[in-house]
Amino acid sequence: MAFSWLLLLLITATLHATNGVGEAKIGIGVCYGLNGDNLPSPNDVVGLYSKYGIGKMRIFNPNPTVLNALRGSGIELTLGVADEDIPRLASSVDAADSWFAHNVQPYLNDITVPYIAVGNEVVPGEFSASLVAAMQNVQTVLRNRNLMGMRATTVVHGAVLSNSYPPSATVFSDRARDTMSRILQFLSAHGAPLLINVYPYFAYASSPLHQRLDYALFTATGTVVQDRNLSYSNLFDAMADSYIWAMEKVGVSNVDIVVSESGWPHAGNGNLTTPELAFTYNKNFMLHVLHGGTPKRPGSYVEGFIFAMFDEDQKAAGAEQNWGLFKPNMRPNYNIFA
Ligand SMILES: *[C@@H]1O[C@H](CO)[C@@H](O)[C@H](O)[C@H]1NC(C)=O
Ligand SMILES: *[C@@H]1O[C@H](CO)[C@@H](O)[C@H](O)[C@H]1NC(C)=O
Repeated sequence: MAFSWLLLLLITATLHATNGVGEAKIGIGVCYGLNGDNLPSPNDVVGLYSKYGIGKMRIFNPNPTVLNALRGSGIELTLGVADEDIPRLASSVDAADSWFAHNVQPYLNDITVPYIAVGNEVVPGEFSASLVAAMQNVQTVLRNRNLMGMRATTVVHGAVLSNSYPPSATVFSDRARDTMSRILQFLSAHGAPLLINVYPYFAYASSPLHQRLDYALFTATGTVVQDRNLSYSNLFDAMADSYIWAMEKVGVSNVDIVVSESGWPHAGNGNLTTPELAFTYNKNFMLHVLHGGTPKRPGSYVEGFIFAMFDEDQKAAGAEQNWGLFKPNMRPNYNIFA
């Protein structure tokens, strides 16, 4: 009797150790945007992540209600620094430290935060000039506080690239090259990944007559684009590899990528945005991410986040309001987790 109790305890302890809070978690992340006036409470949202086994969340700024709701959930958090805070964080290590002491430190006993994402899609743009200094100051704060598991990084989007067809021709655009080069030197020195937002939907929707839908949705069988010795059957891989080619051209080949946003809206742009198409893209994106790798970096694990958890009614009208896996009433628009 005593022996079987002990065994049960051991088994339970092992399950907890493997799965965080004891529920099976999937390695996909989902972005949790808050631009809606009808969204559920953060406690309910954290419950919804747990119910569907979503193991990772990305938020765009350190919202205290969300951070409190995440305590003890076992959900790993990628935490954004709001763009407008970048100049202040760039001004001194002390400024970065007080931001950190107020917004992050109080939660670290109860939440795992692998990445602090300093800014979202700010290169090229007005915050570009202070971005690297802000990242450096945040990383110095992490080192001073002995938080070895956390990394400062940033999120970039397709506007940093030019000539992205075929992938091997891609370079950083003239306006972004200098900043990207400095960002990558920094990431390389600290063993941090670059966070990239990758949207085959926008590439497809901008010229649907000239693109193959199956290539955009991961449903093409066989090679659609041959680029030197690399064969592409989906647009996502081609877009992800474009970044890697651009990185190599500024002399950096040892920085990993994490896909901080990808997705497909389910409404708002005619027959290009249906629940069926959004289901197909996001389901396949999730499976692709979980199985890892791109033609240029086969076998390397690609970490990824779907944009987004909810439809957000305070964004621009049209497709922008309809990226959610879930409606604000927490019912799925379509279920990729079944
Ligand atoms: C493509 O060529 C490069 C450079 O020669 C080589 O390193 C790489 O392994 C090749 N990849 C494939 C998939 O053949
Ligand atoms: C949308 O409708 C147009 C016009 O009928 C058609 O040519 C196109 O194939 C449709 N696209 C999708 C994705 O269903």
